[in-house]
Order: sequence, then structure tokens, then C-alpha cells
Amino acid sequence: MLVNLRDMVDKAAKNNYAVAGFNVYGYEDATAVIKAAEEMDAPVILMANKDAVEHMPVEILANIFCPLAEEADVPVCVKLDHAKDYFLAVRAIKSGFTSVMYDGSQLLLKENIKNTQEIVKLAHSVGVAVEAEIGSVGYNDSTIEAEEIYTDPEEAKIFAEKTNVDALAVAVGTLHRMKKQGAEIQYDRLVEIEKLVDTPLVIHGSSGVTDEDLSKLATTQVGKVNIGTALRMAFGNTLKAEVEENPEEFDRIKWFKKPMEAVTEATKEKLRILGF
Ligand code: G3H
Ligand code: ZN
Repeated sequence: MLVNLRDMVDKAAKNNYAVAGFNVYGYEDATAVIKAAEEMDAPVILMANKDAVEHMPVEILANIFCPLAEEADVPVCVKLDHAKDYFLAVRAIKSGFTSVMYDGSQLLLKENIKNTQEIVKLAHSVGVAVEAEIGSVGYNDSTIEAEEIYTDPEEAKIFAEKTNVDALAVAVGTLHRMKKQGAEIQYDRLVEIEKLVDTPLVIHGSSGVTDEDLSKLATTQVGKVNIGTALRMAFGNTLKAEVEENPEEFDRIKWFKKPMEAVTEATKEKLRILGF
């Protein structure tokens, strides 16, 4: 069933598990993720990021993801990830996304608060949940310019109170697009944030988080972890091997079978680590 983000992350933050948001790019990986969630009886979040919406209009992505979510046997939230543009968020909301993330993480606090408030006002008026980011999770990718700024707990408190967001992404040592696990989580910073903020917290760049830390984070106020690169690699590397092993094959439907299975297995593994 298609659900809103708020209840999902609230329950997770309070009950020693975390919901996973997976970046997906189309029908193949979205169905593979839902299959894994159904087999594990876990709620899940399908997330369309910048690459996805540059590749395919957000309305088309909504038309793929929302019906899949509605038909699923588990709760599925459909979320726009890292939107820096108000009008992109509006298009996502209009086309059926049940959650949007506004990313003003590179802006000054005042501006980030103001822009987030505008999105929250609109989204909440139609029952859509909002995630935003305070501090900034950087990128392990030199082609993307984004300064890494660890979250200041006091700023997180002000931000959460002024914006009334449903979930708050914090920068506590992770980086986006790490191909290997090894992020050093700043638990002291996380504890300070937890003391001041009631909102469920979100950890971005979770492909780079060790299995041990993912399990540990799930028992904290973290209600959601975002995972992209790990699944993208599972799909892409399996597809590459398929093409190499079957150079005469030209039918992409046949090529996609094993990558989809690889995404399902990788998703199940992450869900197990997160407490399902
Ligand atoms: O918002 C998306 C996530 O933060 C994904 O990060 O690709 O490093 O796992 P990742
Ligand atoms: Zn992210």
C-alpha cells in the first residue's frame, strides 16, 4: 500500500529499527526493492534522486512508482530525494509522491529555514510529508560540488522547531557515494542532536556505513537510512557481467533478470541489518 513517510519514520525512530529509503531509477529496481520488502515483511521507501529526475520526468517516475506501491503487500512510501528546486517539489507532490525532501543544506541557516517552511506549508496542506537537511552530507565524488558540514546540534533544534519537518537529515560522518563501507559515525554528535531534537533523524550516504553501525543506528532516534550506491552497484555490476558473459544476447529483458535478482538480494541484506 502507498503510505506517507511520517508514521513510518515515527514508529521506526521509537521502536529500535530504521526504515530504508532506496534510490531507484525505474521499473526494474523499484519492483526488485518491493519484492525484497514483501519477502522480509518490511516497510520501504522508493526514492527518486536528481539523476533519476534528470533521466525521466518526475511525473513519469510517479506513474511507475505509485501504482507499484499501491499494489504492494507492505507499506511503501514514494519520495522525491534531494530536491533543491521548489517547483520540482510541487510537480512531485502534484503527481502523487507521498514525501519530498527539500535540500537547502548548502544554504545559510536562515535561507534553508525559509525555503523549507514554504515546502512544508504546501506539502502538509495536501498530506505529503517533508524531509529536510541541516548541516550537509558531502559527496565522495569529485564531480559534485557540495561542502561537507557536520550538523550543529543547536542549529538542528532551531531548524526542527521552526520548520516542523517530518524527518531531519543530519551530517554525522557519512558521505554520499562511497563504494565501500567505512564511514566514521560521530556518535557523540548524534547523541547531542537527540537530546535537543524530537524529530526522527535520517542518515544519508548509508551505502558507506558498516553493517555494524547500520544495526546500531537503527536502535537510535534514526528512523530512516538512505541507501543508493550499494543497489546501483548491485544492478550495474551484475548487468556488466551478464553482457560480458552473453555477448550474442541483445534482449535487454533477458539481461535485466539477474541484475533485478541482485537488487532484491542486496535490499534484503540491508533490511536484515536494519532489524527486519
Ligand atoms: O539520498 C540518498 C542517499 O543519501 C544515498 O547515498 O548512494 O551513498 O548510499 P548513497
Ligand atoms: Zn542523500
